[in-house]
Amino acid sequence: MLMKILASLALLLLPIFTLGQSPTFSSDALAPTPPMGWNSWNKFGCNVSADLVRQMADAMVKSGMKDAGYKYIVIDDCWQVSRDQDGNIVADPVRFPQGIKALADYVHSLGLKFGIYSDAGSRTCAGRPGSLGHEYQDAMQYAKWDVDYLKYDWCNTTTEDARAAYRLMRAALDASGKPMVLSICEWGTAKPWLWGHDVGGNLWRTTGDIKDRWQGSEKWPNGTCCSNGVLDIADQQADLASYAGPGHWNDPDMLEVGNGGMTNTEYRAHFSLWSILAAPLIAGNDLRDMAPEIRDILTNREVIAVDQDALGSEGRRVRKDESSEAWVKQLKNGNRAVLLLNRGASEAEIKVAWEDLGYPHHLSATVRDLWQHKDLGQVTGEFSAKVASHGVVMVTVQP
Ligand code: GLA
Repeated sequence: MLMKILASLALLLLPIFTLGQSPTFSSDALAPTPPMGWNSWNKFGCNVSADLVRQMADAMVKSGMKDAGYKYIVIDDCWQVSRDQDGNIVADPVRFPQGIKALADYVHSLGLKFGIYSDAGSRTCAGRPGSLGHEYQDAMQYAKWDVDYLKYDWCNTTTEDARAAYRLMRAALDASGKPMVLSICEWGTAKPWLWGHDVGGNLWRTTGDIKDRWQGSEKWPNGTCCSNGVLDIADQQADLASYAGPGHWNDPDMLEVGNGGMTNTEYRAHFSLWSILAAPLIAGNDLRDMAPEIRDILTNREVIAVDQDALGSEGRRVRKDESSEAWVKQLKNGNRAVLLLNRGASEAEIKVAWEDLGYPHHLSATVRDLWQHKDLGQVTGEFSAKVASHGVVMVTVQP
């Protein structure tokens, strides 16, 4: 009898043990909607420290961003300086005097989550030690520090295969026992949308780095791909929608909203485009001294709700002429979010037809403007609006 009870107990426990060991562990549960947070790179580059990160976490709470859904505080490159004699990664002792665990604890004490950065090559893009050959050791270290999110870059990888490298790091993270979001930062070179989900990535960069400008791509100094403006990045997303879904997202890079290189109209368009694309919303500005207009963009809950919609469907471009575009995203309740974008130099009337939304022409629907926070009434057949130069009109359409 005792043997029988023990045998059934073992059978019951088996799935729990095998789940921990399985390399095919489903990571989707870590990011059911696109991750939201803040990352140090776009504004501060290598100028990171524990003080800066603490202040940013405080500001995320104080500014109302936490209440609007932002959750992760991520230190990008340059927190690490060397490896010790046992190969353990060493954080900069001057800039992070109490170490990374103390910082993670502080971020957690505010009800936020904590992320860190490394690289699949021998060195990071800024020349700090990468994780090549130390994948399991680093993952264990991150778990000890209570890290919730890893951005994993692709500099100095020479002959490595991207798919294998990211699969290896996912296996290492899983083996640590600490659930960690894996942010694949491979710039789209090996088309990570085709394999990013399969290797357990939760988001994957689809392009080179964003720059704080409306338009214009440039090659990197080593002749490889590129830095991009908002419109260049948007163009590169247009055919990728089918690869995204709950748990695994196309990542058109972090936000530049508030960094000073664009007008507020352009920042509104940038934020709206990222939301219609179900993109991760990772702010990249100084949260401590935001102008009210910038804060209002980053915390627009109606626009964020489109990004975070539980269906997890990425929006698609349904109309495009020289400078006018319409993008449409299906929402879980059957409504549609619609973005009218004007790339041109002067105001333009832009329209979208119900057929573009997958609705019959005769349907009557309620339209709500998500930037004016205003119902625009019942509309049949099509919706059109005057859109400012470099601006957007963003609405929901409810049949
Ligand atoms: C690459 C990434 C950036 C940033 C830097 C850090 O360029 O694409 O997002 O992480 O490296 O060096």
